[in-house]
Amino acid sequence: MRIFGIETSCDETSAAVVDDGTTVLSCPIATSRDAFARSGGVIPEDAARKQVEAMLPIVTEALKTAGCTLDDMDAIAVTHCPGLLGSLLVGTTTARVLSWSAGKPLIPVHHTLGHLDSVWLRDSADAGAADERPSLPCLTLSVSGGHSDLWLRESHTRGRLLGTTLDDAAGEAFDKGAMLLGLPYPGGPSIAKAADSGNEQAFRFPAPMPGGHDFSFSGLKTALKYVLRDLPDAERTARRSDLAASYQFAICRHLADRVVRAQAEHPACKEVHVVGGVSANARLRLLLREKLPSGVSLRTPSKILYCTDNAAMIAAAGYFLTQEKPETANAEFQAMATAKL
Ligand code: KG4
Ligand code: ZN
Repeated sequence: MRIFGIETSCDETSAAVVDDGTTVLSCPIATSRDAFARSGGVIPEDAARKQVEAMLPIVTEALKTAGCTLDDMDAIAVTHCPGLLGSLLVGTTTARVLSWSAGKPLIPVHHTLGHLDSVWLRDSADAGAADERPSLPCLTLSVSGGHSDLWLRESHTRGRLLGTTLDDAAGEAFDKGAMLLGLPYPGGPSIAKAADSGNEQAFRFPAPMPGGHDFSFSGLKTALKYVLRDLPDAERTARRSDLAASYQFAICRHLADRVVRAQAEHPACKEVHVVGGVSANARLRLLLREKLPSGVSLRTPSKILYCTDNAAMIAAAGYFLTQEKPETANAEFQAMATAKL
């Protein structure tokens, strides 16, 4: 089953062609992120305007790279929630028009479900590789700029939310921390880069909320603010790498603690999946590999491109949705800024 995916929930414009929810034939992504490096975050109105310009060239490129036309698709999948409303409307309007003009079913997809299914994606060049497909049940840590969730997944459409963030999302903690440290947006990659040459034991940040499965990051951000306030001016810059490394470690340790505890409580889950923009973080991956018991495998998306927002994951989720809930295709939907999965 060949699905054309469209994703425009934040500052990215992406379209993709994916076979059977796994084999990616194309997935071009245009981003207006550089325009927001100085504002420290996305300006919604600007993002949507740029997406209007980027959308049709990206659709054309996705089809051209995959060597097919809309007639070759079995369905079109689009992110309809949650996200920036103006941005979502660019994607959903485009998808409605393509679906109507090509006479193809339209599948509305929750953005987070796309992230959850992103570990199934493989480039078409690697499709014949002998690696095993991900398996269920699994535990999935989904960590991005908009959400931080820990799921127990029984199938692609059935699962239980074990924990979620009580305040900031993990990616937001990186973004806000970077702003305090004077590092560019998006904060995750810039903190990770600065942390490479730093000592993560140099500053001790408090471990948020010792028990439970929920997350909390706003205390860490405040702790960083106070550490910076109390440092002499010269040290704030001179020790930026140590601060970045220590702050990154505190975020990763908090995430890893939750995952390891949940896995111990659900030993039938022999796979732990980590998805979303923050899953690109090398320190988080290493910490989880060290802390998870042997016999439990850690899966992250096969490419960094599939950790952050992309249309291939939306096409994948569209495929698995139609396998398990065929009524999703052509269901009525609206673009929505907030919505629970
Ligand atoms: O999934 P995503 O692309 O968009 C949302 O759905 O929000 O995630 C973006 C978030 C940003 O907050 C960014 O700082 C974070 O993912 N991020 C990272 C890394 N790369 C992106 N966080 C930590 N380490 C990274 N290497
Ligand atoms: Zn996302």
